Amino acid sequence: MDIHSKLNLPNYRQQSAEVTAALDQLKKQPVALEIANLTKEFPSDAGPRRVLNDVSFKVYQREFLSIIGPSGCGKSTLIRLLACLEESTDGLILLNKYPVRETGADRGMVFQKYTLFPWLTVKKNVMFGLEVSGRGKFDAEIEARQWLDIVGLEEYADLYPAQLSGGMQQRVAIARALANKPQVLLMDEPFGALDAQTRAKMQAYLLQIWEKIDITIIFITHDLDEAVYLSDRILVLKANPGEVQELVEVPVPRSRTPEQFLSPEFLATKFHLEELIHPGHIRSADDFKVVKMVGEKDK
Ligand SMILES: Nc1ncnc2c1ncn2[C@@H]1O[C@H](COP(=O)(O)OP(=O)(O)OP(=O)(O)O)[C@@H](O)[C@H]1O
Ligand SMILES: [Mg+2]
Repeated sequence: MDIHSKLNLPNYRQQSAEVTAALDQLKKQPVALEIANLTKEFPSDAGPRRVLNDVSFKVYQREFLSIIGPSGCGKSTLIRLLACLEESTDGLILLNKYPVRETGADRGMVFQKYTLFPWLTVKKNVMFGLEVSGRGKFDAEIEARQWLDIVGLEEYADLYPAQLSGGMQQRVAIARALANKPQVLLMDEPFGALDAQTRAKMQAYLLQIWEKIDITIIFITHDLDEAVYLSDRILVLKANPGEVQELVEVPVPRSRTPEQFLSPEFLATKFHLEELIHPGHIRSADDFKVVKMVGEKDK
């Protein structure tokens, strides 16, 4: 008996009518980002080194899409190309059908490392982009406070980043990115440096924010539980060179709750992702770790 049957998991492609309807609805939305035949080479002593090869996929408006894949497969490079922090060797990136060629406020970015300005207060960090784009101080402050309220940090507005915990700093970084009203929020392992408990809370916060505002999210993670918990679909990349392996539809209904971490469809999806990234790695039930995340009640 193979390990998949032993664990008694359903097929991850099996969807309830509710999930199929939600995914059909998503695919009827306009395409926010289209990535077509994207290729990236970096120079090396041995000649050009191809890091991403012919990557194509679409992201729909208001979609939550995660990207996973082995370390070094080109996830950060891909997201940096989307933000135009890096130039592609070949291929196209279309935002609302128009090619993107330079960085812009339409794509917000949140990185793993805290990137707040340490010499500015929390409020001024969030106001920064607004003021740079020409907003008056008074309006910028009102808006910054609204975004801080959304991420639950209004009362910390006048503190400095060093006076906040890692999770709180990352919430400020999210508020700062959202204040510029991007259409797409690009997140590169934003919770990677947080402890498990804070991470679970941040996932819940992010879902709440995503449900409240009109935004498309592209989210890179190493954590399969996190990918399944947050996403509508998960793009799996393989390495050397980075290529699309599969675009997996998540069969877990919304709204998501931490109890779903143990549901058969959640575990089946996670098992499939684990098999894609580390083929043959799961040989026994013990190899397949079931993570119980912190529930809403434990917050
Ligand atoms: N500026 C650069 N110059 C040369 N090579 C680079 C550059 N940036 C990235 N690379 C190479 O491209 C490959 C992909 O790197 P990238 O950071 O995109 O991977 P990743 O999937 O994000 O990895 P991780 O999961 O560890 O964050 C790596 O082999 C890396 O060394
Ligand atoms: Mg990376």
